[in-house]
Amino acid sequence: MNLADNLEDLRARFEDALKNSAGASSLDAVRVAFLGRSGEVTAVRRSIGKLPPAERPAAGQRINEAVEQMERALNEAQANAQALEVGASLSQRIDVTFPSIKPQQGSIHPMKRVMHDVCAYFERHGFAVVVGPEIEPDYYNFDALNIPPDHPAREGFDSFFLTPNLLLRPHTSPMQIRTMQQHRPPVAVVVPGTCYRRDAVDARHLFQFNQCEGLLIDEGVHMGHLKGMLTGMCREIFGSEQQVRFRPSYFPFTEPSAEVDTTCPLCRGAGGECRMCGGSGWIELGGAGMVHPNVLRNVEYDPDVYSGWAFGFGVERMALVRYDVDDIRRFFENDHAFLEQLA
Ligand code: PHE
Repeated sequence: MNLADNLEDLRARFEDALKNSAGASSLDAVRVAFLGRSGEVTAVRRSIGKLPPAERPAAGQRINEAVEQMERALNEAQANAQALEVGASLSQRIDVTFPSIKPQQGSIHPMKRVMHDVCAYFERHGFAVVVGPEIEPDYYNFDALNIPPDHPAREGFDSFFLTPNLLLRPHTSPMQIRTMQQHRPPVAVVVPGTCYRRDAVDARHLFQFNQCEGLLIDEGVHMGHLKGMLTGMCREIFGSEQQVRFRPSYFPFTEPSAEVDTTCPLCRGAGGECRMCGGSGWIELGGAGMVHPNVLRNVEYDPDVYSGWAFGFGVERMALVRYDVDDIRRFFENDHAFLEQLA
C-alpha cells in the first residue's frame, strides 16, 4: 500500500472507532491507539523513510493534515461526551418540576408609592417638592395660620406637645408659612410629610400618618384652579371611575374652605352599615380652600394683589382607596403577606 492508501485506511478505521466509542474514557483509548506515541499514526510516519527523499516533505505534510483533522474530531467528540455526562448526572439529582424557593424581594411601601405619585403629578404641573420639620413651634402650626391661642380650632388638632410651645406637627400646613416667608409669589409647592395627632386609632385614623400639602399663590388664582388640580390628581391616583366631591367646610386658614371626599372603597358608595365610611358612602381625603387673607398678611403678601389655594390630604387615606384596603392600620403593621399583595 502506498502512503495515500495507508492514510485513507487509517482515517476510515479512526472514524469507525470514534463512532463506536461511548463516553469520554473510550475516546481516550481511541486517542492513544491512533495518535499516541506508539499508535497507528506513528507507524505511518515511519513509512516516510521508505519514500524517495523528494517525496518526503509532501508526504509529511499530508500526514500532519490528517492528524490535525483527527485531533479536531476527537476534541469535538470529547466535548460532546462530557456535556452528555454532565447532563445525565444533573437530571438524576435535580427535579426541575420541584417548586423553587422564591427569592426575597423588597418593594416600595404602598403609602410611599402614593406619596411619590402625588408629588409627581404636581411636579409635572410645575410645583416644587419641599419638606419641613416634624417638630414645630406654636407659631407655624397655629398662630401664623390664623389660629390664635384661644381659638377652638386648636382642639381639632389634638396635638402631642413636647413643651408648652413645641409640638409634633398635626398637619403639614406649617410649611405654607415657611415657604411663603422664604419666597415672594408666585409660589407653587407640594409638601409630603409625617404628622401626628392624639387621635384614637381605628379603621380610618392613626396617631402617626402622612399628609401631602399643596400651595399655589399668584395673581388671579381662584377656586376653580383648586378644583381642577385636585380632581385631576384623584383621577390619576384612583382612576377615572372614582367620584370626587367638594363639601363646604371650615378651616381658620382658608376661606372658603372645603373637605374633599371620594367614593368609599369598602362599600363603593352603598353606605348602609359600612364601618369604613359610617354609612355615608364617602371617605374624606382631606381639607382644602382659598388661603385666608390673614395668612397672606402674616407673611407680608398683599391679599389685594395675590390669592391662592391650599390643600392637605391624608396619604394613607389615599392609599386605602387606591389599593382597596379595608383598614388603615395595615399600612403600619408591616405584615409581609399584606405588603406582598400590593407590591
Ligand atoms: N391642614 C388641614 C388638616 O390637616 C388640611 C388643610 C390644608 C385644609 C390646607 C385647608 C388647606 O386638617
